[in-house]
Amino acid sequence: MAKVDKVLRNKSLKNKAGKRLSLQRAKTLDNKVTINEEPSYNLIKPPLIPISNQDVIAEYIDLFTSNNSKDMLSYAYMEASHYYDDLLRHSSDYYLFRDEVSIIKENKKALEKYLTNITDIMEIGPGSDYALENKTLPILTCAPNLNHYHAIDISPNYLHDIGQFMKKNTDDLTISLMKVDFMAPDQINLPQVQNQKAILFLGSTLGNLQSSICLKNISYMSNKNDIFIFTIDTNHDEESLIKAYSGDTFNNLIKGILRFFGKLNLAFNNLIDKFEVKTVWDSQSETVKVSFVVTENCSFQIENSLIIVLKKGQEFETVRSRKFTEKEMSRNLENFSFEVLEILRFSKMSMFVARKI
Ligand SMILES: C[S@@+](CC[C@H](N)C(=O)[O-])C[C@H]1O[C@@H](n2cnc3c(N)ncnc32)[C@H](O)[C@@H]1O
Repeated sequence: MAKVDKVLRNKSLKNKAGKRLSLQRAKTLDNKVTINEEPSYNLIKPPLIPISNQDVIAEYIDLFTSNNSKDMLSYAYMEASHYYDDLLRHSSDYYLFRDEVSIIKENKKALEKYLTNITDIMEIGPGSDYALENKTLPILTCAPNLNHYHAIDISPNYLHDIGQFMKKNTDDLTISLMKVDFMAPDQINLPQVQNQKAILFLGSTLGNLQSSICLKNISYMSNKNDIFIFTIDTNHDEESLIKAYSGDTFNNLIKGILRFFGKLNLAFNNLIDKFEVKTVWDSQSETVKVSFVVTENCSFQIENSLIIVLKKGQEFETVRSRKFTEKEMSRNLENFSFEVLEILRFSKMSMFVARKI
């Protein structure tokens, strides 16, 4: 409840000169009385191309039988959001979270400047409670005319947790939850919002997915003058990168990729403990690469037919996190019709505020 008060109190301050916050509401806030009004809350049915279990299983077969590295991070988020929450709360080496929170804290005025006329915020991959509490809500308080919050995520579990959190912690917003695979190349299925909006893409997620597809999709979803706020990690220091992308909470989150496969192919479940997570920094491609390493010879069967044999020491690369420079990212934005308005910084993290032209 304290959070409700805090968020609304901030909102009431922002709205002091403005029109929307009624006297009655301001009074309620001052008296610290809980607001009973439920936000309207709707779940928009997934507009995405259905991906069958067969397609996903085929991806895992390819991972284990070819030497190809594969982008499988999205599957780590198919579980409940507490694995990601644990990383944010408990990993002291995961500077990416801390520093992004500091950017937001220290730049409220700048964010207000860009969000004043915004009525809709659409967030891609909002993540877990702790991310919502420390990044999303503080940004929402910088938008005094905000009416709608739209969350886009690939994971039904994350969307459920996001909905519950936002319902508890906001009072006067409509909330839409949209299940969308943001990496799907077919733009037809992307949601459209015609109001004056800001798109948030936090957690330096752009570096973890294929950035060109993401930027193309974001550009497609944006109308002229819409604001796009996202963060990148520009760190190229091997030691701190390896520390951030390893440790128990990180490894546990990443092992969600294997646990998800265990749900689709039960015979794999017994093997999950036979993999270790290995992280390396590839300075040439400016990319953190995360692999699963087999710790003992083993095998498993897929769908009563194919038997996959794994040898001790075999490695399967499943996650890449690209560390852009600001210059590279500015060029990319230009290619997708965004103008950079400002870059807000804390340590190695850079938050871009851009405008669709
Ligand atoms: C690294 S977390 C970022 C969370 C949060 N924004 C933050 O700043 O900490 C990535 C988020 O993106 C979502 N996600 C991952 N792959 C996705 C995809 N292909 N399409 C849509 N959402 C995706 C995950 O479910 C998760 O909520």
